[in-house]
Amino acid sequence: MKVYLDNGSTSFPKPKVVADSIYNYLTNVGGNPGRSNHPKSLAANRVLYDTREKICNFFNFNKAENVIFTNNITSSLNILLNGIIKPGDHVITSSMEHNSVIRPLYNLSQNSNIELDIAQANSQGITDVETIRKLIKPNTKLIVITHASNVTGSIQPIKQIGQLCKKNNIYFILDSAQSAGVLNIDFNEFSLNALAFTGHKSLLGPQGIGGFIIDDKLNEICTPTILGGTGSLSHSLSQPDFLPDKFESGTLNIPGIIGLSEAIEFINKEGLNTIYEHNSYLRSFLISGLLNIPNYNISGALDRGLATSCVSITHSKLDVSELSYILDSDFNISNRSGLHCAPLAHKTIGTFPNGTVRLSIGYFNTVEEIKYTLDCLNEINNIYK
Ligand SMILES: Cc1ncc(COP(=O)(O)O)c(C=O)c1O
Repeated sequence: MKVYLDNGSTSFPKPKVVADSIYNYLTNVGGNPGRSNHPKSLAANRVLYDTREKICNFFNFNKAENVIFTNNITSSLNILLNGIIKPGDHVITSSMEHNSVIRPLYNLSQNSNIELDIAQANSQGITDVETIRKLIKPNTKLIVITHASNVTGSIQPIKQIGQLCKKNNIYFILDSAQSAGVLNIDFNEFSLNALAFTGHKSLLGPQGIGGFIIDDKLNEICTPTILGGTGSLSHSLSQPDFLPDKFESGTLNIPGIIGLSEAIEFINKEGLNTIYEHNSYLRSFLISGLLNIPNYNISGALDRGLATSCVSITHSKLDVSELSYILDSDFNISNRSGLHCAPLAHKTIGTFPNGTVRLSIGYFNTVEEIKYTLDCLNEINNIYK
């Protein structure tokens, strides 16, 4: 048996309709949107607009032109953070963040007279709202937080953090890399000003497509950092100031956008709740099996409802890279070991500097695959106990 448990890095497989739609676009459509007036370019325009609308509906937002496409969530977060934060600003984030949030913020704090505070999450990987509230200062401009940790899967209290931001007139940005496509995300209910997403994880789209939604209020103060050809206002030497062109310079990844559009359609048909229940059931099944095998330690929140789809483990007699290698090479179980680009998260849960072996579940995993994984983990423990 071959088992893919690296969906936290990128989901595999993708729904067949995703690959089919990309093939169809590349063989039959192929135009560049917003550049020309021939049918191929106009067809690409339509796909682009329809996908913006679909993303709006998916995240309960109401202005399609405020959906911006990028290459991935790392680009989205960089555009947002570098465009919003100015000298003298104070920013709060959490200790569970991915480097896609931490590195741009750290860079700004080192070079641009920006104050940065990192709210300490608890040992389950959950950041308490009160901890964040205590860090707020008169110059706090922005809070940026991941919805679910890519190390432990732990879900952050986003709705309450959003309310805190609203009450204190602080902008709020959500990193949805590990939650979009598994957890319900409601732009309004969460009081967001921007929602960054990546297409290739639980959204089940191809790699190389991501984006963000920005509301009008945040857009007003966010300056674009990537300038160039937009197909609009070609006579002007200045970047257009209207959305989406303000943030979309250069040719878009239309094959990726089409694939993402079909992936969202697939998720809508299956039902977000069905997907969440499936992943959550398999995660609980994996955890309860692991608790019966000696020498494994599971990090983070174990209870159903507190986390999304990944499980981070260590073994008391094996180094994480050894465990990872054995799972992969001897048992065909794809997994990931190390710090998963989130060093502070490992400091928080006590697994720094070696990290963990992460088993991240996706919608196409089955009970049989998890049973097989548990058997293999048991066998490994019998050899190395
Ligand atoms: C929480 C989180 N944020 C950001 C990223 C970066 O995603 P991408 O590589 O698609 O930009 C990841 C990827 O693992 C992630 O898990």
